This record gives sequence, structure tokens and C-alpha cells, in this order.
Amino acid sequence: MSQEQVEVIAIDGPTASGKGTIAGIVAQRLGYHYLDSGALYRLAALTCLDRQVDLLDEAACAKAASDIEPIFRDGRIELFGRDVTEAIRAEIVGITASKIATLPSVRQALFDLQRRAKKAPGLVADGRDMASVVFPDARLKVFLTASAESRAERRYRQLIQKGISANLTSLTEDLAERDRRDRERKTAPLVPMPDSRILDSSNLTIEETVETVLSWWREVNQ
Ligand code: DC
Repeated sequence: MSQEQVEVIAIDGPTASGKGTIAGIVAQRLGYHYLDSGALYRLAALTCLDRQVDLLDEAACAKAASDIEPIFRDGRIELFGRDVTEAIRAEIVGITASKIATLPSVRQALFDLQRRAKKAPGLVADGRDMASVVFPDARLKVFLTASAESRAERRYRQLIQKGISANLTSLTEDLAERDRRDRERKTAPLVPMPDSRILDSSNLTIEETVETVLSWWREVNQ
């Protein structure tokens, strides 16, 4: 099978919409590869933070993004010889990722790394611009949303579960700020494509959401 023929399911959506969980399960059920593109932006952000790069210095941020050679193994992520699986999930890294993601040369620097994830037998890719920029040829494009309240609550529960202290009010504010930045940026903003299927998971369980994506997948493959 040539790379061109490999099937892609693109799942885009705002912060804490549950994309990662849903995309990971869908990939597992189908026996496909999984690309968490947000992790790449987070790895680039962590590198910027470690190097104390000025986030307004686009060239230095792009250099950090092009330097990353992450190793994904057994659900862990290694960067420059260090396990950064938990470190990249910190709120400060997410906020920094959202800031550097507005820079076109950072996006360009991460483009090939994302495209290389398209491997047989198939790929489920989650992010903000999977359907619009990275895999415009995806056979199924899902735009996964949930209300701001339910996303903030989900993120809050996730953090508390991990033993990380969190404040619901400031989480809701951070989330709104990141949403605004991700939606309003000039390059590759978070928007559904005309051929995206919108899935609002506010009142759906994980299983119901996964089942909807899988039923759409069966439908487009008929
Ligand atoms: O999905 P996430 O929260 O891990 O992503 C972190 C940030 O990275 C997000 O706020 C915006 C950016 N991002 C992006 O611009 N494009 C992607 N395809 C994935 C993430």
C-alpha cells in the first residue's frame, strides 16, 4: 500500500473536547496508528520553555520545533533522552503550545513530522488542523466539540485525578483564552471544514462518542 492510499480519520476540536481519548480508542479498535499532534506542539513548547526562548522570537521558536525528535514508546514520550510524558501535560506547557502554534514557521517545522505518521494500515490523527491542513485528503473528518462548561469540568477532573491541584474558575478562563487564540489565529485556525461532521459530546459518554465515529467510518467505507 502506498502512503497515498493509507486511510486517515481526522479528529479536530477545541481544548479538552476529549479528542485524545476518542481518537486513541478509535485507533485501537481499528488497529490503526494514532497521531496526537497537540503533543508535538507541547514538545516544541517545552523545548522553548527549557531554552528560555522569547516566545515573540519566531525564528528561535521554529528552531526549537524543528529540533525535536520525540520517541513514542509504550504510551510514554521521550525527548532528548528524558521522559516528558507528564511534563508536557502541565497547563503552562499547553498555554505556551497555544501561543507558539500561532507562528507559521513553527507550524511549518512540525508539518513533516505529522505527515510521516501516515502509515499503513491507517491513521487516526487528532488536533486543530488535521482536516484543513495536514491531512486534507482524510476520508473522514470529525469536528469534536463540547460546551465550555463540560470541557472545563473534564479538564478539572483529569487534573485532580492525577493529583495536580486545580481551580475550576481559572481553568475555565485559561480554556476560553486558548480557544480564542486557536480559533482566531491567521494560520490554520480551528474551524470545521465544509465536509467535517460535527459531533457535540457534551451529553455523550466516551463509548457513545467512539461508537458515533466508528459508525460514520463504516458509513464512508460502504
Ligand atoms: O490538543 P492540545 O491541547 O494538546 O494542544 C496544545 C496546543 O497546541 C493547542 O492549544 C493548539 C496547538 N495545536 C495546534 O495548533 N494544532 C494542532 N494540530 C494541535 C495542537
